[in-house]
Amino acid sequence: EKEKTLAMIKPDGVSGNYTTQIKSIILESGFNIVREKMLQLNEETVAHFYAEHSGRSFFPNLMKYMTSGPVYIMVLEKLNAIFDWRNLIGPTDSRKAKVSHQNSIRAICGLDSERNCVHGSDSPQSAAREISFFFGEISGDAGSIHD
Ligand code: CMP
Repeated sequence: EKEKTLAMIKPDGVSGNYTTQIKSIILESGFNIVREKMLQLNEETVAHFYAEHSGRSFFPNLMKYMTSGPVYIMVLEKLNAIFDWRNLIGPTDSRKAKVSHQNSIRAICGLDSERNCVHGSDSPQSAAREISFFFGEISGDAGSIHD
């Protein structure tokens, strides 16, 4: 089934000039980029986007990291987009990605479990929530991740 997912190049990926390379990998992997924009996140936006992590010990660092510079946000579309994008970015901990998922995006541009250079929605529910959070209702399908 054709799905949409939210992909984000985080501040370390944008400032490290990985955007062009990551977009090439995305297109070579068969995804369509149906929406894209560059955005500077503020504390309110990060608090909403990462609400599920607000009680975690790493949250204050996550807040500093995610507001440290612009991010590049995309809506990707493809069969099984949610699973396939998570698979392509690799594990949360980029050190692990460099060892056991060497072809993953986090192996290329990530540093550790916080500075992991990219984000992907982890379920159909989060994909729908995250896409409408950044892009509103996508025309034609009422924001549904399914066509
Ligand atoms: P992401 O997949 O976008 O989801 C939540 C983010 O919180 C994660 O990527 C990391 O950037 C950060 N994160 C998750 N776990 C940790 C951790 N143990 N220490 C620091 N940051 C983390």
